[in-house]
Amino acid sequence: MVDLPKIHAPYQSDLDKAVLSVVHSGGYIGGTVVQDFEARAASYLGAPVIGVGNGTDALQIALMALDIKAGDEVIVPAFTYAASAEVIGLLGAVAVWCDVNESTFTIDPDSVKSVLSDKTAAIIAVHLYGQCADIEALENVAPDIPVVEDTAQAFGAVFTTGKYAGRNAGTVGSFGTFSFFPTKNLGALGDGGAIASTNSSLLAKAKSIASHGQSKKYHHDQLGVNSRLDPIQAAALTIKLNYLPQALNAKIQIAGQYLSAFESLNGVVLPLTASFSNHTYHQFTLRVPNGKRDGFASFMNDRGVATMIYYPIPLHKQKAYAHFEPRTSLSVSESLSNCVISIPVHEALEPSEVLAIQTTVTTYFS
Ligand SMILES: Cc1ncc(COP(=O)(O)O)c(C=O)c1O
Repeated sequence: MVDLPKIHAPYQSDLDKAVLSVVHSGGYIGGTVVQDFEARAASYLGAPVIGVGNGTDALQIALMALDIKAGDEVIVPAFTYAASAEVIGLLGAVAVWCDVNESTFTIDPDSVKSVLSDKTAAIIAVHLYGQCADIEALENVAPDIPVVEDTAQAFGAVFTTGKYAGRNAGTVGSFGTFSFFPTKNLGALGDGGAIASTNSSLLAKAKSIASHGQSKKYHHDQLGVNSRLDPIQAAALTIKLNYLPQALNAKIQIAGQYLSAFESLNGVVLPLTASFSNHTYHQFTLRVPNGKRDGFASFMNDRGVATMIYYPIPLHKQKAYAHFEPRTSLSVSESLSNCVISIPVHEALEPSEVLAIQTTVTTYFS
């Protein structure tokens, strides 16, 4: 799905130099390389940022900084990656599932409204597949509930209309959390993550929690964790951040080509960009309903085209989360799990490869 060596090729020597300079520096924990990346990420996003170990830690630390504790309810979509809900369970809180919008795949504010209770302590809104979830609509249905924006899949996505027009995904909620898993929009050479917040006291609290709850060395004010962005990853991310705008543009262009090529096909539903967001196409995800998805996947596979299903089982049907019983209809999450399929959309795809993928899809549905 993603060819990382090919993506890195144009700036491989800069990456090598940056990584080696950390290796030779002897400074392997924190330090100026990490601070420099945090400052550059903050400047790109337009909100202060701290680095952490990965996107899952980022979510957990954000919830801890919001004082989420046993018995609290946290609303989360049933259609997302497991990490979004896992952290709720780890803190002893209750994951309350909500459904998603069938066309944009992101959190459905009406469904959120149907599961609000006096125990609701936070909402996790996932900017799934690369576009923004409707945070303004969430605030309208739940004005006093803190929102954590799970921005693992949408670094660089931007709200285009409404109250947050022009703001980056991950900068408008109480917290935005990011993953730098290698295949993400901004990917490291291993694990990495970040937390953004314009609320300075919340971000300071998150920073302390990420460092064993310390306010200063050996003074532990609260329970924390050990979650650090590694300087080798920070050095690589600093290089890769320079190339992010062109990478996102390349993906948007490829997605545009797919959209026009597939426009008139029958039997496949194309991804929709919400009216209030751009789309950074972390994934280009089709819907192939009526039990036809597996046949399509085999057809693509037989012709050498990768496909992936994100995600084949909604979270409320996963064994690990069976104790969080649904309180509202999750029919959209259930039907999406049966029909979504993603095709390659990375920035290093050659025009000939894009054409080959396009032709394979078109051939199947014609
Ligand atoms: C929506 C979502 N949330 C959270 C995560 C967790 O990020 P990480 O793998 O860096 O822990 C991911 C990553 O796969 C994700 O896609």
